[in-house]
Amino acid sequence: MSGAWRKDEHLFFSLSRSPGRADFKDISFVHNCLPDIDLADVSIETSMLGRTFRSPLFFNALTGGTRQSKIINAKLAAAARKMDLPMAVGSQMTALHNRGREESFRIVRCINPRGFVMANIGSYADPQMAERAVKMIRADALQIHLNTPQELAMAEGDRQFRGTMERIKQIVSVSSKPVIVKEVGFGIAREEAEMLIQSGVRAIDVGGRGGTNFLVIESMRAGKHLSAGIAGWGINTAISIVETNAVSRKGIDIMATGGLHNALDIAKAISLGASAIGIAAYPLHLMLKKGFNTLINWIADVEKELRIVMLMTGASSLVDLRTVPLVITGKTAEWMKRRDIDPDLFARRQKCR
Ligand SMILES: Cc1cc2nc3c(=O)[nH]c(=O)nc-3n(C[C@H](O)[C@H](O)[C@H](O)COP(=O)(O)O)c2cc1C
Repeated sequence: MSGAWRKDEHLFFSLSRSPGRADFKDISFVHNCLPDIDLADVSIETSMLGRTFRSPLFFNALTGGTRQSKIINAKLAAAARKMDLPMAVGSQMTALHNRGREESFRIVRCINPRGFVMANIGSYADPQMAERAVKMIRADALQIHLNTPQELAMAEGDRQFRGTMERIKQIVSVSSKPVIVKEVGFGIAREEAEMLIQSGVRAIDVGGRGGTNFLVIESMRAGKHLSAGIAGWGINTAISIVETNAVSRKGIDIMATGGLHNALDIAKAISLGASAIGIAAYPLHLMLKKGFNTLINWIADVEKELRIVMLMTGASSLVDLRTVPLVITGKTAEWMKRRDIDPDLFARRQKCR
């Protein structure tokens, strides 16, 4: 994801489609008719990477490197500052190859000097590049993105993927900031989550299928149709959380991204194990098509609805929300059983009742 011109094309094609919504229909909360809490008691505060945040929402990586993306990054940073949300910049690989492009990323720090900002690099970066990306925006954390299907779909994309895990380990071992590994919409399975955890990463952003689909975006860029089967490649967001959660342990944060822009889906993602929720295409659409204030109001509405959903389950905190019963049926339950993850364990949880 390093070419600057490509970043503008990604924006263009992403904006030409309605943002996809993650599929959480197999997952249901159990209504609690006797929640012994007041709405004012419900807190959506979360902890991630050893810090406490007002809300689980964060703006995930989108752009940088061009004049248009500088304007977008400036607006997103202003929204992040106003709503006190963390924000990741788009891939900085382009600026690591061309210093003239750094300004489109640095703008985020100028606008939001005290906010929590995440740097973003590709998986072919080395530890020196990682450190330069962090310094460029005085980042608080570093994201490394994984996007193999997207690279394969690009005529100019990478074809060599050997050594990625080794490079991640090297970056983790010398990074001055906590490292997050993220997918960009194809999900993460437990086997790879386990390898990433063993490498020392502090957080995994599962970036599951259901929201932005880079196979479709790349096929639009190339002016070619992809066969339906391939266009639907990947592990959906809900299952990716479950898979990663199955191997996660203390000290590892699960971040969930991929078509999450509805308070009920967000609550379910948290209940499945996520501590932070990344939003990317949806806020971009709102901000560019309906304006800054619409984006701000939408965030406030989602947070309000999240509190309402939490109260209806009897949860007064996100920690509680991860203990309320969750009934998992259909294809998701079937998948879990085949992968030796017991869906009934979620249904039988009852700490809050
Ligand atoms: C236009 C666009 C550009 C993106 N660029 C990057 C990027 O540079 N680096 C990255 O890690 N993820 C990138 N992403 C992926 C998002 O961070 C996110 O993982 C993905 O879009 C899924 O979230 P969504 O369904 O809310 O859009 C981009 C997404 C979009 C829509």
